[in-house]
Amino acid sequence: MVILGIHDGHNASAALLIDGKLVCSIAEERLTRAKHEYGFPGQAIETVLNTAGITIADVDHIAMATATLPPAYYYTSRNAKFSISDYWHEQKEYWYPKLYEGKDPSYTELFKKHIDMSRFPYDESLIKDEKDHQGMWKARVKHLCETLGVSEDMISVHNHHNCHAYYGYVASPYRRGEDTLVYTMDGGGYGENGTVSIAKAGEPLEFLSRSSNCNIGRMYRYTTLLLGMRPADHEYKLMGLAAYNTGDYAKKAYDVFADTLQVDGLGFSYKNEVKDHFFHFKDRLEGERFDSIAFGIQKRTEELLTEWIHNGIEKTGIKNIVMSGGVAQNIKANKLIWEMDAVQQLFIPPGPGDESISIGAVYAEAIKRGVKVDDIESIDNAYFGTSFTDDQIKQAIEGSDLKDWEVRQVTPDDVAEVLANGDVVARFGQDNAEFGARALGNRSIIADPRSPNVIHHINKLVKMRDFWMPFAPSILAEREADYMINPKGIDGRFMAIGFDSTELAREHLSAGLHPFDHSARPQIVRKEDNPGYHAIIKAFEKVTGVGAVMNTSFNIHGEPIVGTPEQAIDTFSRCGLHHLLLGSWMISKPEKERL
Ligand SMILES: [Fe+2]
Repeated sequence: MVILGIHDGHNASAALLIDGKLVCSIAEERLTRAKHEYGFPGQAIETVLNTAGITIADVDHIAMATATLPPAYYYTSRNAKFSISDYWHEQKEYWYPKLYEGKDPSYTELFKKHIDMSRFPYDESLIKDEKDHQGMWKARVKHLCETLGVSEDMISVHNHHNCHAYYGYVASPYRRGEDTLVYTMDGGGYGENGTVSIAKAGEPLEFLSRSSNCNIGRMYRYTTLLLGMRPADHEYKLMGLAAYNTGDYAKKAYDVFADTLQVDGLGFSYKNEVKDHFFHFKDRLEGERFDSIAFGIQKRTEELLTEWIHNGIEKTGIKNIVMSGGVAQNIKANKLIWEMDAVQQLFIPPGPGDESISIGAVYAEAIKRGVKVDDIESIDNAYFGTSFTDDQIKQAIEGSDLKDWEVRQVTPDDVAEVLANGDVVARFGQDNAEFGARALGNRSIIADPRSPNVIHHINKLVKMRDFWMPFAPSILAEREADYMINPKGIDGRFMAIGFDSTELAREHLSAGLHPFDHSARPQIVRKEDNPGYHAIIKAFEKVTGVGAVMNTSFNIHGEPIVGTPEQAIDTFSRCGLHHLLLGSWMISKPEKERL
């Protein structure tokens, strides 16, 4: 059975499941180069079909991930195009008049500068107005049928949170023979923002709670905007900032959050009602220090999530936890969750935000059609993206203007030598790209993790990363115990979970640890998951004794991670990086061009 999964909201993506195996999944942004791309993922669909060597005629069913998306967001490509000031404008000129003055402003009028009708391929005659999500759904289906040449009866749609839940559950390698307790949490989808479900070993999910009050993501998102950062994007920066504040002078900011949302059994309620989550916090946080605000929202998030999960374990007795949805990217809260006595295993799949609901949709569709959960493969690793042959890489090199750059074939030992000399290497491995926002070695910038100076060096060359944000280490699985404190053997392969570090890590990996609390969100690299990347780190260990490298995603600030060898060369040409490792070829700029 061949099932094509499509998510056409923000962070649009496509996924392909063939006979219970996830063959490929990719986010549209990697192909269009517009971060958080919104709308029909035409290129992603083409890519997943090409990767499998099939055409649309071979597809049996199409599973969509969300039905209720408003036309206004399609017209404006909201998440892909909005700047920070657009999001402020949205609050002040759209939501405030609507919620506080009884007015009904036009969203598309307010943001008409973002409307490009050439990017709106849907039949407008089916859409009554900018809020008509039912008409928009009909237009989306019609467009899909016409574009792909398929009939409507092939298409089904799945609930947004069911997709989050099925992605986490089915992807989990810890579900076989075990009962699983699944949590979803996000900014909102299909009118819901948090669910709790259980799965008896190998069975479909049984939902115990569906909440529209799990507003952790919404509170975090608006706090991100209040601090002048991009909502649904920069929440991790508040999380990184929060760790510098010990809480000594943050009580007032914390109390503002703690006076509102509370856990109520497997759901949520309010101590004190809030009319809306932006102006409520804006008014009450005025004059508070930025780091206290970050501390307050992070601490409250941790408290709410740990209590919610505690309640689920107490009710069901199940200690094998899966979390999915955008809020599951909070690696600091995830650390506190796995550290809870009651938790046995915590699994966060790669890319747990909306980019993966196309995968959740194919899993849910297969199960709906009678496929047994145990007949669907859990994921072995995060590399569900595109790969390139040696020839394709060679062609990309030959077809590019490489100026006077040196091109040579290298071994892992050669790469290790460059790294050990303190230089930085952008690696585009020819193996499949990693899924989600975290680069896991195949589309990564890597460096010697021993000195914090490397962070400034990378920032100068390419990243312009915020000064308070740490990078992350890729650690050989066989050296994990030397560096990370992980007594429960929690799966740390996807940079999705935080851990405390050892004394040796502070000596060997200081560039990959949070500078203040020395925690890390590592990628644990097993040879079987990524032999090429493992070999480079192993070679680096041979030269330096350090069983890890520092790893950050291969992209210029604000751009998506590179998707093709050509994009890798283009990105390399537009930044200060000295070395690009493309497959087994190292392209190096001459000394005079180096910063
Ligand atoms: Fe979501």
